[in-house]
Formats: sequence, C-alpha cells, structure tokens
Amino acid sequence: MNKSSIKIVVTGGAGFIGSALIRMIINNTEHKVLNIDKLTYAGHLESLESVADSNRYQFEEVDICNAEKIKRIFNEFGPNAIMHLAAESHVDRSIDGSAEFIKTNINGTHTLLEEARQYWQGLKGDRKENFRFLHVSTDEVYGELGDTGFFTEETPYDPRSPYSSSKASSDHLVRAWHHTYGLPVLITNCSNNYGPYQFPEKLIPVVILKALQGEKIPVYGTGENVRDWLYVDDHARALLKVVEEGTPGETYNIGGHNEKQNIEVVHTICDTLNELVPKEDGETYRNQISFVTDRPGHDFRYAIDASKIEKELGWIPDETFKTGINATIKWYLDNMDWVEAVTDKNYNLERLGIKA
Ligand code: NAD
Ligand code: DAU
Repeated sequence: MNKSSIKIVVTGGAGFIGSALIRMIINNTEHKVLNIDKLTYAGHLESLESVADSNRYQFEEVDICNAEKIKRIFNEFGPNAIMHLAAESHVDRSIDGSAEFIKTNINGTHTLLEEARQYWQGLKGDRKENFRFLHVSTDEVYGELGDTGFFTEETPYDPRSPYSSSKASSDHLVRAWHHTYGLPVLITNCSNNYGPYQFPEKLIPVVILKALQGEKIPVYGTGENVRDWLYVDDHARALLKVVEEGTPGETYNIGGHNEKQNIEVVHTICDTLNELVPKEDGETYRNQISFVTDRPGHDFRYAIDASKIEKELGWIPDETFKTGINATIKWYLDNMDWVEAVTDKNYNLERLGIKA
C-alpha cells in the first residue's frame, strides 16, 4: 500500500477508540479521513474538536445499516481503506437489551461488507490490489480464561455475552467475505482500552468520576476479575499499522501485557487521586469502594498474547499501565467540561447490566 497519503473511511469515529484513531491519523499522517457515525449515546463530536477544521477530515452522520447512504459515500469519497469501529460496545448494556447490538454489530457489519465488496469489485489495478477492510474486534470473542494462559489468534471462539457473541458473529462474516469473495480484510482482536475521551460507563472513567463526585465506587462481585489494559493511543497506532502493513486475511491480537484484577485498578485510581486531589477531611478515596451484585455471566479473566503483531509488524505499546493511568486521570481532571458535554443527555447513572 502507498503509505504516504490514502483516503480512509473510519466508522464509529465519534466514539472512544475511533476518535483517538482519527486524531492520530490527522495529526501524524497525510491521510484523508471520512468519519461515518450515527452519534448514538456513545458518539460525541466534541471528541474531535481538535481536528474538525482540518481539510483532510470530513464527517457524515450515517447509520452503518443504511446501505444506500454507505454506497453513495464509498462512491463519492473513493476510499483506499475502511477501518470499521462502529459498534454497540458496552457489555452491561447488551445484558439489558441486545437488539441494538444485533442490528449494529451484525447487520451493520454485513451492510458494510456488502457495500465494500461491490465498491472493491469495481476498482481496477493497484487501487483494487491495495484496498483494505479492517474490522476492529475484541478479545471477548475468545471467552474467558482461568488463572493462567493467554488468548492467541488460534484460540477457539467461545463468546459468552450478547455483546461478545454479536462481535464474534461479525468476525465470522468478515472472514467469510474474504474466503468467499476475496475481499482483502484484516481483523484485530484487542483487550480492554482506557484513556482520554472514554464515555463514563466503563470501569476506569466510572471509578474516576464517582470518586471525585464523592459517590460509591461500584466494584462488581469480589473485584478479582482480571482485564488486560491497553492505552487507547497504542491501540490506534496498532490499527493504522495493520491497515498499512498487515497481510489480508490475517488476524492480529492486540494487547499491552497489563493484566490487573479490577480491585487493583480501582486501588491505583484511588491512591493516585489521594495524591493529586487530596480530600479536605484527609480520608482516602478507597473508603468509597462498594462491592455490588456481580455482572451476570461475568467473564473471569482476559489476557492477550500479542506476539504476532509484535514480531510481524514491529508494534509494541508506548505506555505502561502506570504512565497510561496517570495520563488518563490527569486528562479527566483537566477536561470536566468534556464530561459535562457528553453526559448531560441520555446519561444513566443507574447501575446497568443487572436485568438478567
Ligand atoms: P464506543 O461505544 O465508544 O463508540 C462506538 C461508536 O460507534 C460511537 O461513536 C457510536 O455513535 C458509533 N455507532 C454505534 N452504532 C452505530 C451505527 N449503527 N452506525 C454508525 N455509527 C454507530 O466504542 P469504542 O470503545 O470506541 O469501541 C470501538 C470498537 O472497538 C468497537 O467495535 C468495539 O467492539 C471495539 N473494541 C473496543 C474495546 C474497548 O475496550 N473499548 C476493546 C476492543 C475492541
Ligand atoms: O476486552 C475488551 C472489551 O473491554 C471491549 O470489547 C468492550 O467494548 C469494552 O467495553 C471492555 O469490556 P469490559 O466489560 O471488560 O469493560 P468494562 O469497563 O465494562 O468492565 C471492566 C471490568 O470492570 C469488568 O470485569 C467489569 C468490571 N466493572 C465494570 C464497571 C462498569 C466493575 O467492577 N464496576 C463497574 O462499574
């Protein structure tokens, strides 16, 4: 692929990872980006303010399930690559209501694949040869691990929540479009991301904000579940590398080798806040921790073996958990206006994911 300047359609670019990806592409490359996003509760153009005026950035408010609009966009913009991140992404919401997950994650991916196939089949020469469709997926498709072991690209699929099974379905569709039609696809399966601009319903921003608001910090079950954390900008760099240098048909696992029990993550955040914004009464933020009803079907442990992308594409994370969590906490402290802007509509402070 000509890496100097290409046109990329990013789906879900107003979300947490998509906006980090677009900021990185606009700031660090000469590529042009067209962002397709439906602007659900999780999509916020406020996250893209720093690049919105670039003449290499465009936005279309479109649902990926709308085949007619997707066809028009592909034909008008003429992308060299599609980076597909749009999804319903929160496990707890998928437990409370799975319909949107099926629509967007499965039917939406199917619509994109079909439109990408037709568009790609109409290309000629190098443009056809070099076209790429990157599907951004999750380590949750592999199910859960016990106390030991890692997910590799060969680990059999065993999704266990409505969210992860909808993502697994979409991964299978993407592979089928490669195998059957030859569409040059790539799939990435990444571990838990954290960093700036994450909507405050996922563990790390929930803990930071509940702590600062003096509320109870909800830890599901015993807090012993393990997640493998990756700073979002490291994920964004990996995604661009896979699009530019990955081999079509291949899958790449992405992770930061940062396995932590949830309670360790919560303690780290509380202790960092104790230093950065000590409470007037001298109490520790740890006193706000509250162990609550567990997530139904809660996967015990995720851990990624990222050696394939490290060896084949030379990607390694820049951030350790310590540097990344410090940067994240400081970002939230400095950007409460963003938090207010994205939470004043449709923000549900109630506990999600216990209707099962
Ligand atoms: P997010 O929920 O923050 O953002 C999702 C974006 O998709 C939002 O901007 C939303 O408006 C948009 N969207 C939703 N439905 C749409 C539709 N029908 N049409 C167009 N746009 C739509 O999600 P995220 O955390 O940024 O995750 C992005 C992708 O990465 C997802 O595919 C997710 O499965 C995957 N992933 C996430 C993580 C993580 O830890 N957050 C880890 C691995 C993989
Ligand atoms: O592993 C990758 C996945 O990571 C992505 O595919 C998902 O899109 C992303 O949301 C994330 O899923 P998790 O379910 O692991 O993330 P979440 O932040 O919701 O939860 C992380 C862990 O913290 C999990 O074990 C549940 C627990 N938790 C979560 C919340 C929101 C709590 O203990 N308390 C909470 O309030």
